[in-house]
Amino acid sequence: MLNPTILDVLQRLHAAARASGDPEPDAMNLATADPDGRVHSRMVLLKTIEARGLTFFTRYDSDKGVQLAANPRVALCLHWKRLDPPAQIRIEGHAEKLPAAESDAYFVTRERLSQLGAWASLQSRSLPGRALLEQRVAEFEHKFEGREVPRPTEWGGYRIVPDLVEFWYAGAHRWNERERWDLVDGVWRRRLLYP
Ligand SMILES: Cc1cc2nc3c(=O)[nH]c(=O)nc-3n(C[C@H](O)[C@H](O)[C@H](O)COP(=O)(O)O)c2cc1C
Repeated sequence: MLNPTILDVLQRLHAAARASGDPEPDAMNLATADPDGRVHSRMVLLKTIEARGLTFFTRYDSDKGVQLAANPRVALCLHWKRLDPPAQIRIEGHAEKLPAAESDAYFVTRERLSQLGAWASLQSRSLPGRALLEQRVAEFEHKFEGREVPRPTEWGGYRIVPDLVEFWYAGAHRWNERERWDLVDGVWRRRLLYP
């Protein structure tokens, strides 16, 4: 659980980034590690920030999903360039699958073509040609014609439960500010770091 201070700062910065004209204020880098210790990173879209953690959606059978099943430790990084001062947020913690009902609730809000894409895209698997993706979308369009597209069981959300949060603010002369919060024995402890 985030404490109210961290939650408030995260939510306020995120809202400010969304209002700042940043073309991708929800984009965050997600780093995972596989059992061999090899590190993988890619962007995902931040959906919610709550005391319980930060959520995003994907396919559970994607490479990231397979990595998370074997090792739930993650690192997130966000960079809100248009804020004054620009800010970087680093978060570490572990990923938990969202309850099915929460993934269902978000899936119904997606546009139909995105819902069909969630069925058609075997995310991270080899695609022999772009035409095959379009053919698979058409097949699912036909399958679900005249009714709501259900959520594929392999598509859903994760909650990142943080145990480290760092706020970084750009400063003049690169004298940047770093405020690090660590969860130690259930209590969030704050300290400043040299930039
Ligand atoms: C700005 C941006 C946002 C993205 N958001 C998501 C997302 O929310 N969920 C997702 O599964 N992939 C998202 N992607 C695609 C991922 O970066 C990645 O290509 C995909 O999830 C497959 O990753 P994997 O093979 O490591 O599992 C996004 C890409 C970009 C550039």
